[in-house]
Amino acid sequence: MTAVDKQQACVFGLSWGDEGKGKIVDLLCPAFDVVTRFNGGANAGHTVCVGDETFALHLLPAGVLRPNVLGVIGPGVVVDPIALLSEIDGLAARGVDVAGQLRISDRAHLVLPYHKLEDQLSEKAASEGKRIGTTSRGIGPCYADKMKRSAAVRFVDLLNKDALQQRVRRIVEQRRAMLSTRYGDDFELDADAVLADLETARSRLAPSICDTSELLHEAADEQKSLLFEGANGILLDVDHGTYPFVTSSSAGPHGIWAGAGFAPLEVTFRIGTTKAYATRVGAGPFVSELENVVGDRIREAGHEYGTTTGRPRRCGWFDAVSCTYAARLSSVTDIALTHLDTLSGFEQIGVCVAYRIDGKTTTRFPADTSLLLRAEPVVEFVPGWTGDLRSVRTFDELPEEANAYIERVEALVGAPVTLAGVGPDRSQTLVRGRIRRLIDVSEPTTA
Ligand code: GDP
Ligand code: IMO
Ligand code: MG
Repeated sequence: MTAVDKQQACVFGLSWGDEGKGKIVDLLCPAFDVVTRFNGGANAGHTVCVGDETFALHLLPAGVLRPNVLGVIGPGVVVDPIALLSEIDGLAARGVDVAGQLRISDRAHLVLPYHKLEDQLSEKAASEGKRIGTTSRGIGPCYADKMKRSAAVRFVDLLNKDALQQRVRRIVEQRRAMLSTRYGDDFELDADAVLADLETARSRLAPSICDTSELLHEAADEQKSLLFEGANGILLDVDHGTYPFVTSSSAGPHGIWAGAGFAPLEVTFRIGTTKAYATRVGAGPFVSELENVVGDRIREAGHEYGTTTGRPRRCGWFDAVSCTYAARLSSVTDIALTHLDTLSGFEQIGVCVAYRIDGKTTTRFPADTSLLLRAEPVVEFVPGWTGDLRSVRTFDELPEEANAYIERVEALVGAPVTLAGVGPDRSQTLVRGRIRRLIDVSEPTTA
């Protein structure tokens, strides 16, 4: 569809990922012509539920599930070409053909088997406390190669077959030597197999490879509407997250400029997504974590198991300290607060409003991981609500206590909650405020 007014928007995570970005992107997509991923790789797992069908997207922008939306993988994404092809094939097997709707940046870097191998081996070798708990998708090693420059492979290189052959053989041999020196010889890495994969990728993906930055500029000139889909979350951002327990890319609107090759000056809707509680997969500080029956109850009620790795997610109360930090950093205009339905039935709901560190109370989010690891949450309790929220379709229909909770989150974070999740389905998002003009009026989701 061609939107009436040109719009530019971004959906991203305000927490440690898995906030429900996929669902919000899917909801907004009918108003957009192009949806662009600008960071991360197959570490992402964005879920879209439509009726009985559930789709988990890792590299494809969630927008491609909507017909006529062009999906773009920008230069800031690291792409495992075989994972991408299996995602495309998986959707095709379910009757969703997205191949023609996809464009991949010629400047995007490829994740190759030795990246995944290094990710797995280095994590295995790391001592407890140093292990990040990565998704094993080769993300860190690929971004490291990109920065090091001497051994990186980009999509544009796929198009130059002869040069690529020699280059990949050299890189694989160097990588084998490095890996065996560090981790021993117990792994398989075969240059011919890597080259065969690259040939498959070249033959199938070549028609989709282009200068996607130019594509976005032309689309903007033609008054098309652009949506940017962030992966991971601001607290996992390489510069601003809980370093070193982070991913290797820029996960907020700030990532668009570099990762999509497009100045986000007119991205006037900056939609930060967060759950009504907090979750984290992998290691690292999590001040409001509940390592008790309450956390277990949230995990079971919210089905908190990773979309990409299936790992149980760590659960805790909503953390206003980290969320306010992430909201400021991203100049958020709209908060999408998901999983309100999951908290139904809790007599009281905790909100972490400050941290207590070494006897002092603070609402600042410190850079020092050791401070975060010993911080204690200052938790304020608000009354909970009961009832099944999944059929609620407007904010007015929500229990009074749920609206009071939303108001408390808005006051603490300093931004309006204009989208609220009451279930995983496409139809289970409440919408209010100016963002309503982005939602297709034919959708049964508008407030
Ligand atoms: P993403 O990575 O941010 O796209 O989030 P994920 O898809 O990894 O994880 C979010 C999970 O919560 C998925 O299983 C979604 O289907 C589900 N979900 C999203 N919003 C809601 C909501 O409001 N209520 C419930 N119960 N589930 C939701
Ligand atoms: P979406 O887009 C949740 C976490 C990993 C690990 C750390 C580093 O679905 O929200 P990496 O493989 O990137 O080197 O892992 O970051 N992580 C995510 N957690 N959702 C994600 O993406 C994540 N992407 C990375 O669990 O702790
Ligand atoms: Mg996810």
